[in-house]
Amino acid sequence: MGDSSASGTQSNTAAFPYPDSALALNALAAEHRDLRIESLLESVAARVEQFSCTAAGWHLDYSRQLLSGAAREALLALARESGLESAREGLFDGRPLNHTEGRAVLHTLLRATSADPALQDEIAAVGECRQRMADWVERIHSGTHRGYTNQPISDVVNLGIGGSDLGPRMVVEALRPYHHDAVRVHFCANVDPDDLSATLQGLNPATTLFIICSKTLKTEETLHNAKSARNWLLAAGAGEDAIAQHFLAVSTNLDVAREFGIPEQNILPMWDWVGGRYSLWSAVGWSIAFALGTGQFEELLAGAEKMDEHFRSAPLEQNLPVCLSLLEIWYVNFFSAQCHAVIPYHQDLARLPSFLQQLSMESNGKRVNHQGQTLSYATAPVLWGDAGSNGQHSFHQLFHQGSVLCPIDFILVSGDQSRTDTEGKQRLLANGLSQARALLTGRDLEASRQSLLQRGLDKDRAAALAPHLVIPGNRPSSSLSCEQLTPETLGALLALYEHKTFCSGHIWQINSFDQWGVELGKALGAEIYAAMLGEAEGNFDASTAAILEKIHHG
Ligand code: F6P
Repeated sequence: MGDSSASGTQSNTAAFPYPDSALALNALAAEHRDLRIESLLESVAARVEQFSCTAAGWHLDYSRQLLSGAAREALLALARESGLESAREGLFDGRPLNHTEGRAVLHTLLRATSADPALQDEIAAVGECRQRMADWVERIHSGTHRGYTNQPISDVVNLGIGGSDLGPRMVVEALRPYHHDAVRVHFCANVDPDDLSATLQGLNPATTLFIICSKTLKTEETLHNAKSARNWLLAAGAGEDAIAQHFLAVSTNLDVAREFGIPEQNILPMWDWVGGRYSLWSAVGWSIAFALGTGQFEELLAGAEKMDEHFRSAPLEQNLPVCLSLLEIWYVNFFSAQCHAVIPYHQDLARLPSFLQQLSMESNGKRVNHQGQTLSYATAPVLWGDAGSNGQHSFHQLFHQGSVLCPIDFILVSGDQSRTDTEGKQRLLANGLSQARALLTGRDLEASRQSLLQRGLDKDRAAALAPHLVIPGNRPSSSLSCEQLTPETLGALLALYEHKTFCSGHIWQINSFDQWGVELGKALGAEIYAAMLGEAEGNFDASTAAILEKIHHG
């Protein structure tokens, strides 16, 4: 953290907002630098129990964090001082939390079975949309709706990017055992035509249904892919009227959808009170409903609602999203950690880190507070990860011996019965547990030397090599485990990370719900594209101009 105790040197600079808590936490962090997590585990018999909490099918064990009871208390005091308890209410009652865009933030309403009566209009709109979504799923699964050659639909392709892609794609992949066999669901995001051609490879235009999924319907990539998909359909011999049979759309921008030739009944709404990265619970998740069926989609929502209820009502010290967030604050602001890894030990969750990247980094990758003052303290860390055990054979080296502090969430599924290869699942779980343990205990110089002697090396060679084998250990991790990966537990997991993101953004006093940072690149992209076509001159930096020159003249 920057100088947490001093106030900003300029009026437009914001120091860490809770000076007293920060002072206490800085002092505690200094004491922790000499602490071993193993001693913390040994010194308090009930530590595992005390540093665990459970909700909505998920068990969080954060006893292997570099965090004493006193530090946890100080973090909870900071959360209370920040007004987190009343802020979380704002998430459920429609306050305009996204003040830079003048919008409420109501993604929780998308999965709520009851809500504030003041939100009746929104509830009615969600209910109507959900019904229309379900009708379409039924029509496609039953073969009632047919393509232009009167064949049933066999493949659904979601055309969208960012929040209109990552969430649905990740959920569809994560819930493979739950797929309905009537259709296959595919995703295409990149404006690179290779993405669309790879997606369409082997698909039959006569039996393919596209969903143009874009909150704004202004997104270059999605609009371009939608046009290409349309051309692909027409090139196969379909007439213009086939658009109505082969294209659906989800958007707040109904006019553009209509202009594309999509009839009203094929367009489902989005609302400006749902952020793109929080939207998989809305019609943006249509592809999920096609892949799983409406019943399983509703299970996903039900799991998320369970986590919402937990977040809203559990005391802070037993609150899973709050605990994850406070750990983030602890490492980012008091240990200068700049990254965080999420490693799911489940192949079907391989895309979870990508989804969480947008959720966390687009929400909390911010540098000014609500008043527009520049922050003197750090916000969202770089979030990354991949499925275990694959990462063990590549980047885990850095976890064990690298110079970077990277706290890790290990996601474990303990009783997965959905696969026949039980041994493989047990091996996977053993790998996850062993990684967390190796990070904790490490291996000292003497143990390293002994292991080399046991391998038959002579004394001198063993002494020379031993430092290379030393693993310092004391690297923090949490495990987040459930018994089965189901639509319900997945829904709860995603809501957990959504709320964690909210808590951290609240404590950092930033707007987690806008994304102005991505706009400049989009505008410059349009300028450069116009220059590439020779339609505009453009006033570019020397490097961009040189590359454009090469493109023009070889
Ligand atoms: O450019 C960023 C972004 O606006 C994300 O916030 C959003 O999820 C994504 O683009 C896609 O936007 P849309 O759904 O409007 O096409």
